[in-house]
Amino acid sequence: MTESLTVRDNRTGQEYDVPITDGTIRAADLGKIKASDEAPGLAVYDPGFVNTASCRSAVTYIDGDKGILEYRGYPIEQLAEHSSFLEVAYLLVHGHLPTKEQHDAWVHEITYHTFVHENVKSFMQGFRYDAHPMGMLMASVGALSTFYPESRDISDEQNRHIQIVRMIAKMPTLGAWSFRHAQGKPYVYPDNDLSYTGNFLSMLFKMSESKFDADPRLVKALDTLFILHADHEQNCSTNAVRSVGSSQVDPYSAVAAGIGALYGPLHGGANEAVLRMLKRIGNKSEIPAFIEGVKSGNERLMGFGHRVYKNYDPRATIIKKACDDVFEVTGVNPLLEIAQELEKIALEDEYFVKRRLYPNVDFYSGLIYEAFQFPPEMFTVLFAIGRTPGWLAQWSELVTDKEQKIARPKQIYTGDRTLQFTPASERWA
Ligand code: CMC
Repeated sequence: MTESLTVRDNRTGQEYDVPITDGTIRAADLGKIKASDEAPGLAVYDPGFVNTASCRSAVTYIDGDKGILEYRGYPIEQLAEHSSFLEVAYLLVHGHLPTKEQHDAWVHEITYHTFVHENVKSFMQGFRYDAHPMGMLMASVGALSTFYPESRDISDEQNRHIQIVRMIAKMPTLGAWSFRHAQGKPYVYPDNDLSYTGNFLSMLFKMSESKFDADPRLVKALDTLFILHADHEQNCSTNAVRSVGSSQVDPYSAVAAGIGALYGPLHGGANEAVLRMLKRIGNKSEIPAFIEGVKSGNERLMGFGHRVYKNYDPRATIIKKACDDVFEVTGVNPLLEIAQELEKIALEDEYFVKRRLYPNVDFYSGLIYEAFQFPPEMFTVLFAIGRTPGWLAQWSELVTDKEQKIARPKQIYTGDRTLQFTPASERWA
């Protein structure tokens, strides 16, 4: 049986049958509903895309009510425990798990594209001494489009593949250099003997030692965090990548737009905001006053709430476990106590319970990052490195999807009309 929706337009008394496919109606079908022949068709008003599907996607499945997150059908819990970030990146980009040969070739390709052109280094060195690393990352990724002008040929599959490899490979290099820049330390070149995440830690922290050997527990924890952030279907930054990518621009420019979106405090910037919030609270005794402030609408409890997860965020559960592994190496972060107490109080408080606000991925990730001795400005950079394969998998899906068009939402115009213009010379006379 074909599913459909019958709509009666009370302005005209006319009825319309609108087909339902995959639980959705096509907004264009509503456009056929008109108050008169000359009137514009009916449109939907949906600021923030709260109930609008913008694409079909086979990358990531989320059931927010049940707290389910799957990449290409595989539960996040299994991937976080048994896989590696590069294998997950392969899965997201290619749509299936790699064979041994495919895995080895993929790791080899990514590893041998970690270096960047020396001019990239020079312009990164031109940033102000206190430049935010996310601003540096966004600008450098965008600038890569000028180093790889062939990336504009997005219709060629092999060409898309090489840009995807380059971006996943170079993101840790650019991220690490943004970090070293603020510290006034020399940039460290990639060490291709190390794993993806081990090399990233080396580029971040290596000084005069000939080889940087990070504690394998820290490498594993950071790799897991990258896995947890690798994709999250149509979130703000992915939507930015898709929206900008829909103009058929090169993938570096599209991903730079995604980095810009991720920079914001309501998205990837939340873990930085969580840390600042915990430091400001400073003491368990200050928590009740802080919670009262949140409930009166003065501010938000950062790291709580999610547009999609209304029960719990499965990534938060895995991160809580990773906290234990990291703190075993680094010692417990004193802010953990405040975070745990805050969580306990918030989970029992009617304000948060009623609004179904639970800790999200960012509530605990900042504590782990701080244990690594990352300054808060770096947290979103780490998120961006993790999210890159997801952005690219979604971008590939977009550019090969025949149904996609350039993104161009409608508006409801609320301004003046047909005013008469008086030239400045007369208005100011
Ligand atoms: N603290 C206090 N109240 C909140 C919070 C919060 N963190 N989040 C939502 N609310 C309240 C909000 O005031 C509103 O209350 P009311 O109905 O009385 O007006 C209600 O809950 C619904 O909020 P909303 O803003 O309509 O929800 P949304 O789906 O538009 O926003 C969110 C989702 C994640 C932007 C929001 O929960 C938030 O700002 N959280 C804090 C920032 C944060 O942790 N962001 C990281 C998200 S996870 C990582 C990522 O994917 O980027």
